[in-house]
Amino acid sequence: MNNMKFINVSLLFFLSLNVSSLFHPTSARGGLSTSNFSGSVDNHYVASARRLFEEKKLTMEQHLQRLEKLAEGYMSNADLEKAIKAFNRRCSSISRIYSIGKSVLGVPLWVIEISDKPGKDEPEPSFKFIGNVHGDEPVGRELLLHLANWLCDNYMKHPLATLIVDNIHLHILPSMNPDGYQLKRRGNANNVDLNRDFPDQFFHMNDDPGNRQPETIAIMSWLEKIHFTASATLHGGALVANYPWDGTTDEKKYYYACPDDKTFRFMASLYSNSHHNMSLSKEFPGGITNGAMWYPIYGGMQDWNYIHAGCFELTLEISDDKWPSASEIPVVWEFNKLSMLNLVASVIKTGIHGRVFSSDYGRPLQASISIKGINYTIKAGQAFADYHRLLTPGEKYEVIATMPGYKSKSTSIILGEEASTVDFILDPVVTFREDVLPRGCDCSFENRRLKLVEFFPGQQSEIFLLLVIILLFLCFLMKRRVILNYLRQKQMVGPKQSLVV
Ligand SMILES: *[C@@H]1O[C@H](CO)[C@@H](O)[C@H](O)[C@H]1NC(C)=O
Ligand SMILES: *[C@@H]1O[C@H](CO)[C@@H](O)[C@H](O)[C@H]1NC(C)=O
Ligand SMILES: *[C@@H]1O[C@H](CO)[C@@H](O)[C@H](O)[C@H]1NC(C)=O
Ligand SMILES: [Zn+2]
Repeated sequence: MNNMKFINVSLLFFLSLNVSSLFHPTSARGGLSTSNFSGSVDNHYVASARRLFEEKKLTMEQHLQRLEKLAEGYMSNADLEKAIKAFNRRCSSISRIYSIGKSVLGVPLWVIEISDKPGKDEPEPSFKFIGNVHGDEPVGRELLLHLANWLCDNYMKHPLATLIVDNIHLHILPSMNPDGYQLKRRGNANNVDLNRDFPDQFFHMNDDPGNRQPETIAIMSWLEKIHFTASATLHGGALVANYPWDGTTDEKKYYYACPDDKTFRFMASLYSNSHHNMSLSKEFPGGITNGAMWYPIYGGMQDWNYIHAGCFELTLEISDDKWPSASEIPVVWEFNKLSMLNLVASVIKTGIHGRVFSSDYGRPLQASISIKGINYTIKAGQAFADYHRLLTPGEKYEVIATMPGYKSKSTSIILGEEASTVDFILDPVVTFREDVLPRGCDCSFENRRLKLVEFFPGQQSEIFLLLVIILLFLCFLMKRRVILNYLRQKQMVGPKQSLVV
């Protein structure tokens, strides 16, 4: 009995070692969730396990030497910082740079923002690119500098560059994990896999903010400040566009669709089909995959973005080889260039966009926008009340705008290949007397009447009644004027574009 149990445990131990070292995906987006092996093991097995680890350590050293060689020609962290600053000097009219925090070892996490009005709030969608989440996947950080420079060189020359710069705020974080890059390993300086460090929807594994890595904290607080409509993280070790969900409730591997599955498949396919040969993949039909279908991971950044930041994020595996020789980077850039540009441009070229106003003072309303049949809500922006809802083209949608204190409105729209504009003007549900009328005019006379009756006893009360009627009439006139004012404002606010609801 005891023996049986013991054999099972040790079998499991070796299986988990072998499986995790053989399993190809471990090298790419993630790797299986850490095998949860625990239990007492006989000394003999501990010894052999130690031997195994020592062998592993040796190969790790060889591996490191190999990586140092492979890294020749790649930007160091210092080179990257210089390249970012040089870019900003060269393209200062359409860019700014800022840091969202520091890595464990104190390296600033630099972001390049590209827009015709960098740093200014505008009623436009924002997109973000994040590279080098895993320290040993450096291709993305190189490509992101290529992307920034290409946009700078082609603004006002190439229609895609002009469209992106004029209509989108593109934020680029070339390296989320500079320490891991320097150490030539997947995790950060604390050896934590940053793509497992976010709070998870199924398991309470990263719920304690005190245990969170500074790189993760930087991303999470960044997303509190800037609302991104969509984003992509760049990884290496495979060639596929991966979309939510990344995990399943029971840790098993199967297709687990999020509410916007169709839209995510559309976006992932847009990337794959614009790529040199991603869509020709034999392993992944169409060059795309649902994360949980590939292999479930927990604490990933992609699902967290969709759930908590209203941001549609893809995880892009952009090259089978994690470290192609540096001379091949321009080729990898050419393979991915159109995909990257098309993905960014999709946040303005497709979907439903608009703004939400109140019908009273024409205030911008930070309303919630949802689509009938899709259990997902996005919020309009704070300053301009603009919203940007990505959706699969060529379908009919019912768009619903809701705001506490206002009557909800909805409208049906057939979305073509192009984006549509739907603006909403919402009516308040409040009674005019309480919230809208100027304070000076109080239409309830009950209390006052009691007091006045004391002053004018007897016959005088008839005169008083007349007075009340005149006052009520005046109040009525005033309300009318206020309403007319609202209507006039409503017309002024009403936007010019395709549909106002
Ligand atoms: C590992 O096992 C422990 C004890 O059984 C459990 O509490 C924990 O949640 C498990 N962790 C994971 C990541 O499955
Ligand atoms: C894509 O092209 C690269 C370079 O030519 C090649 O190494 C790779 O095997 C190709 N992948 C697919 C899926 O066709
Ligand atoms: C909608 O999604 C929320 C989580 O965002 C979930 O709690 C709720 O049960 C879902 N509703 C339906 C009808 O699926
Ligand atoms: Zn990765």
